[in-house]
Amino acid sequence: MNFKYEIAKLIATAANLDEKETEQALEIPPESEMGDFAFPCFRLAKEMRQAPPAIAENIRKQIETPDFLDRVVTKGPYLNFFVDRGYFAKAALSVIANKGDRFGSSNIGGGSCVVIDYSAPNVAKPFHIGHLRSTVIGHALYNIFNFLGYKSFSINYIGDWGTQFGKIITAYERWGCDDEIKQGGITALLKLYIKFHEEADKDPAFDEEARGWLVKMEQGDEYALKLWKWFLDISMEEYQKIYTRLDISFDSYNGESFYNDKMMPVVEEMKAKDVLVESDGAMIVDLEAYKMPPCLILRRDGGTLYPTRDIASVLYRKNEYNFVKAIYVTGHEQMLHFAQWFKVVELMGYEWAKDQLIHVPFGFINFAQGKLSTRKGNVLLMEDFLNDAVARIGEIIEKKNPDLANKEKVAEQVGIGAVIFNDLYNNRIKDIEFSWERMLNFDGETGPYVQYTHARCNSVLNKANVDFSTADASKLTEDEEFELIKVLYTFPERIIEAANKYEPFIVSRHIMQVAQAYNKFYHNNRILQAEEDIKLARLMLTKCTKDVICTGLGLLGIKSPSEM
Ligand code: ARG
Repeated sequence: MNFKYEIAKLIATAANLDEKETEQALEIPPESEMGDFAFPCFRLAKEMRQAPPAIAENIRKQIETPDFLDRVVTKGPYLNFFVDRGYFAKAALSVIANKGDRFGSSNIGGGSCVVIDYSAPNVAKPFHIGHLRSTVIGHALYNIFNFLGYKSFSINYIGDWGTQFGKIITAYERWGCDDEIKQGGITALLKLYIKFHEEADKDPAFDEEARGWLVKMEQGDEYALKLWKWFLDISMEEYQKIYTRLDISFDSYNGESFYNDKMMPVVEEMKAKDVLVESDGAMIVDLEAYKMPPCLILRRDGGTLYPTRDIASVLYRKNEYNFVKAIYVTGHEQMLHFAQWFKVVELMGYEWAKDQLIHVPFGFINFAQGKLSTRKGNVLLMEDFLNDAVARIGEIIEKKNPDLANKEKVAEQVGIGAVIFNDLYNNRIKDIEFSWERMLNFDGETGPYVQYTHARCNSVLNKANVDFSTADASKLTEDEEFELIKVLYTFPERIIEAANKYEPFIVSRHIMQVAQAYNKFYHNNRILQAEEDIKLARLMLTKCTKDVICTGLGLLGIKSPSEM
């Protein structure tokens, strides 16, 4: 049963109001003493020509308290509803227990396709922390949309074409050594890339040469393409290591190069539709009317640009996947880029561009006090970073629980989990001040804390080792129990909200609340030593908590070890 809806119905009937609007106006007060639901009467004052407190009192008199409510009281302009705790506990837990690890899932999406473009590192340049953020946020959205009945489709739009290849080939031709590259992999490539820049700063002829190589690649030169493919394979292998550790794979790895032959037809289409104008020999779309600088489509030398490729790729994707949304996850420094080319697609006459193209920007992670800043430019950065997190967690586990089975596996799951959780715990646009201490603290607002709570639930259930499927949850009326059930029960709404706002942190905050509420309950109440019927009900509550945490962590892309 939906308590909010039922209460809205009561009010609407009593005061002759619209049910939907009433439901929307119902608030959840910050403190339980103020009721579980509150209806503010201010907005009715004008129409009813009465002071809000009087309106509240009038409505209250019209309501006959049903079974599922304990009482209805007025407080000033508010009408406050207190649910019957036993009734609520029983109704809520039966739903949660029934759905188990699918609690919160739904079919809102009706199977329609959501394409999510994330990660997208640039070959031969470092996979930096921004790519990690994109990967983690994109993956969480992927899971969330799937859980809500959409068909998520992930695309890793690898930066596998462009001037950087010309640079690397130029450098390789001069200073490259096959053995070094075979051994050093992407680090060796990066070294060449850096060397190129050092030299090109002194002598611009290098840039010319690099452009020459790119032109050769574009003309299909066999030798140039062979090198390109080699460097690409080396980089992909390296990325794969990171993805494996994050347990992420993509539905498509069509990178930028995939669109090489798809851009010119789109440019022709733009010309035919009269959206292109010439400017200084280049072809642009004038966006002055939309208060944006022009969007560059063709360079003076006829070369294509980043927006050209994005436009070609979205038209391809629309055709191929028939998405209802195409989501792009990148750093906020690309906001203008996306706003511009989204507008161009709209100007080409594609109405869907207005509401189906979504840029999901995020802020930076600042490593002010971390040792990572000194290693800037090191392409192994991300792997080092993950290793570091795992090693530090390993040390903590060694101290806390030296006898734990599978210590290494757990350290990996908790270390990686800590990194992901840290990334997803705030409004994504906010910059993050990085701190090992804050990220790894088992008692803080961290991944390890939530995972630990999950393991605690698991241990309680294992110790009890009884069947509680017939437990009577209406016994759960203590403050801590009631608070916990409330957060568990509102989990589905939060998942929907996270999807609507493209904000995974709404899920991470919520499971943090669940974990905190459970620990409060755990510390103030006996479970295994309680009277039999209460014990069974509390075990049921523990199981529901465990499932919600596991589901929530799963949506974020984090594992839930059963012991830690
Ligand atoms: N490779 C780009 C970068 O590292 C991100 C690509 C984002 N996706 C897109 N369709 N533009 O900045």
